[in-house]
Amino acid sequence: MNKTSYSFGYEIYDSADDLNKEDAWLLQHAKETAKAAYAPYSNFYVGAAARLINGEIVKGTNQENASYPVGICAERVLLSAAATLHPQVPIESMAVSYRGATVKSDHPIAPCGICRQSLAEYELRVHHPIRLILGGMDGKVFIIEKASLLLPLSFSGSDLHSA
Ligand code: THU
Repeated sequence: MNKTSYSFGYEIYDSADDLNKEDAWLLQHAKETAKAAYAPYSNFYVGAAARLINGEIVKGTNQENASYPVGICAERVLLSAAATLHPQVPIESMAVSYRGATVKSDHPIAPCGICRQSLAEYELRVHHPIRLILGGMDGKVFIIEKASLLLPLSFSGSDLHSA
């Protein structure tokens, strides 16, 4: 029997004021984009904004539905938009922010499990890491160099075919 372990590092900033100009700009766009979320059931409004490597900006917000499982997270709305509007153009950085009716937006949130799976496949598909900038309306900001770091031992297309 062998044991192994997994860990990863990420950056923690005390506030958005400590970010470089480009990252602060993108996070600000994610905050503003959250206003376009359709979240009448959770009242949790998420905005995502990404800069592609060609400089284009793509945004996404969560879109809920009375049939709850139909709802889709801001991150996956953004990935679908990016893949459709700019096929094969890698995403350099994606900022995610939120506001909630019943929660203080004073700390970062991280993508849910389904979004981690989608983000990991997007990285594989365009052969480029997606850098995540995670922050609330206020408070600390986390920067993670590569979204797939959030999904160790992941399942991917290569598992569906034998070598
Ligand atoms: N949500 C996102 O859009 N992104 C996240 O990273 C976490 C959760 C959405 C899904 C749902 O519409 C609402 O937030 C509450 O879970």
